[in-house]
Amino acid sequence: MSRTELRPFTAADLAACGTLLADRHRRHRAAQPLLSARFEDAAVALAELTAAYETPDASGAVAYRAGVPVGFVLGAPKPSPLWGPNIWVEAAGLAVTDPEVTRDLYAVAAARWVDEGRTAHYVVVPTYDAELVRAWFRLGFGQQHAHAIQPAARPGTGTPAGLPVRRATRADIPALAQLELELPLHHGRSPTFSAGRVGTLEEALAEWTADFDNPGYATFVAESDGRVVGSAIGCALEKSSGHLSLARPDHAGFLGFAAVFPHARGTGAGRALGTAVIDWAVTAGFDSVVTDWRVTNLLASRAWPALGFSETFLRLHRLIGY
Ligand SMILES: CC(C)(COP(=O)(O)OP(=O)(O)OC[C@H]1O[C@@H](n2cnc3c(N)ncnc32)[C@H](O)[C@@H]1OP(=O)(O)O)[C@@H](O)C(=O)NCCC(=O)NCCS
Repeated sequence: MSRTELRPFTAADLAACGTLLADRHRRHRAAQPLLSARFEDAAVALAELTAAYETPDASGAVAYRAGVPVGFVLGAPKPSPLWGPNIWVEAAGLAVTDPEVTRDLYAVAAARWVDEGRTAHYVVVPTYDAELVRAWFRLGFGQQHAHAIQPAARPGTGTPAGLPVRRATRADIPALAQLELELPLHHGRSPTFSAGRVGTLEEALAEWTADFDNPGYATFVAESDGRVVGSAIGCALEKSSGHLSLARPDHAGFLGFAAVFPHARGTGAGRALGTAVIDWAVTAGFDSVVTDWRVTNLLASRAWPALGFSETFLRLHRLIGY
């Protein structure tokens, strides 16, 4: 095998690396056909890569063998303090022909990131390539988050007896506001330990009162013994701030939120609510339904795969310094 040459990523690498990215996406779609076909086009992939390159403070590395590009890694920081002194390699920021070269690329790119004080590293990796995921694990990364998809098709399962699900009405706003706090509360606890802020009930009530009639969102509630025990929200994936670039399938609905009060968890309410959102997506004409979860969220990481979601991208994380 010829020697691997590594150097910082520059604008001169964009075109060749755009082709590598389109090739990666083609392989990804062979395993996960619900992903968008658009990014198999090298020009479309190049536009995504160029956008990643033009993100403020983006930097990375590229690898060549015998003058031919064999991989790149390109990251940029997110301004939110939620992620710490961070660098993110998003879905368009990585493609390799040989998974092992990922480790050389990271070694070059991460030297600069750490010099800049960016010690919290995040990378969004396509799931189809087990060796690629393993290469990142052998760089000290662990799995933090999962993106997933399923076809918009009516699930065979019905609502469990005693757990009717219906569209929310304004009278449900107090329960919806309380349920909105349940997700960040749950995420703040072990073993997720998310740094996300838990808002106040007053803020949640004010938001629900102002936004309740927004036609872009379909809100459902599950009831048990006549009381609301959980809620879920469906919308178009375009409304999500995540699932960007190659991780954004076309014509996709989004299971954007779900929570069940702690006393009612594990009794089928989450399944019934998720099913209602999938049903809504079918009726609304979407081709697929997307969701995502923290993999350390024991409840969500069991409930959503059980409902038929399969992983498309994993977000891996490494914190340098300890
Ligand atoms: C995630 C959540 C909405 C799921 O709702 P739920 O009512 O607890 O879930 P369900 O009882 O419907 O269980 C759904 C599936 O999860 C699986 N599951 C639930 N508990 C499980 C366990 N302890 N072990 C393995 N699988 C389990 C089951 O397969 C179940 O499917 P089944 O109906 O075929 O048995 C709920 O637990 C919750 O509010 N969690 C906190 C907030 C949150 O995490 N929201 C989602 C953010 S992405």
